[in-house]
Amino acid sequence: MKLPGGMAADEFLRNYWQKKPLVIRQAFPGMGSPVSADELAGLACEEAVESRIVIENDKGKPWQLYNGPFDPERFSQLPESHWTLLVQGLDHWVPDVADLLEHFRFVPNWRLDDIMASYAPIGGSVGPHFDQYDVFLLQAQGHRRWTFGGQCDETASRVEGTPLRILSDWQGAETVTLAPGDMLYLPPGIGHHGVAEDDCITLSVGFRAPTIDDLLTGFSDYLCNQPDAGAHLSDPDLQCPDNPGAISTDVILRLQELIARRMTDPRQIALWFGQFSTAPKNPDMIVPAEPALTADETREQLAGGAALRWNEGSRFAYHEFDDETALFVDGEQFILRGEARALGPLLCRGNRTQGSAIAGFAQDPALGGLINTLINQGHLYLE
Ligand code: SIN
Ligand code: CO
Repeated sequence: MKLPGGMAADEFLRNYWQKKPLVIRQAFPGMGSPVSADELAGLACEEAVESRIVIENDKGKPWQLYNGPFDPERFSQLPESHWTLLVQGLDHWVPDVADLLEHFRFVPNWRLDDIMASYAPIGGSVGPHFDQYDVFLLQAQGHRRWTFGGQCDETASRVEGTPLRILSDWQGAETVTLAPGDMLYLPPGIGHHGVAEDDCITLSVGFRAPTIDDLLTGFSDYLCNQPDAGAHLSDPDLQCPDNPGAISTDVILRLQELIARRMTDPRQIALWFGQFSTAPKNPDMIVPAEPALTADETREQLAGGAALRWNEGSRFAYHEFDDETALFVDGEQFILRGEARALGPLLCRGNRTQGSAIAGFAQDPALGGLINTLINQGHLYLE
């Protein structure tokens, strides 16, 4: 497997991923922006789309932040230069942008987040900062001058008077100017500052990783919803205590055993994590197919060459157990057995599965029914 631009994925993961920045010139040769500045502004006026405007000097106040949705008139009130419009989750709304994610499958689906777009006129930036996550910054239109370097953390000094976390007294180590098709990879915590040199659109391919807090609270919530969670602690072997006020070591060991047995069960961890990590960011995007298709109609369309495509807001992953495969789709789990197990890896490999690859599965009544359900619930669509 290769990265855009040709580096072997193994080499990238070994030498750069979570370790050091990498500039990839012409990762996407002939790149044109899949969206225009006007289209980004249009999306930023939509209720369902998460968007922000950052103004470097807003009537004397530094780095001011405005959250969308915006009135169309807002864009005519902005300064000539030194501002940025950010649109989050662009891949959810623009299938051509979702297709870009297919070039980043050298990282598992559950680590990929979404693609954010920024538009800035000359001088525009979001200020020097660092992020918690890995990011590929792909230049889609115009030119951006990136200065980057230095590992930062929460102790770094910040600009006052802004809701944004802007680094003060920060000097980058390296400066590069990216042209359309060039890409910069940054690991978490590396300070960076990208300034538009002309009318500039940058796409940030963002990753995610749960915090320990997310994992512990998520998994314990899941365990609390298991059927046995309402059972009470029992002690038919209770011994008469020397002091009724004492909590005995026996009790503590019993609690430890009860908690550890549940918390360390790999099957439960896998079933929970699959559901947790595929929970959609934007559940409102997963809308039932209208009109619903019958299983026969789905079979015919697949046999006729239609491809099966993920809803742009959907997340797919699977886990192989010894004797079965769990398919996770948007926080739901489907257990596949026998020959059906191959459907998990097939549907999760990328956002589009050719009809010819899947038509055989659809002939099986149970699997045809599952594929049909995934379409009718809105997780997949026929293309
Ligand atoms: C931008 O595209 O302007 C900002 C992206 C980033 O620095 O993370
Ligand atoms: Co950043």
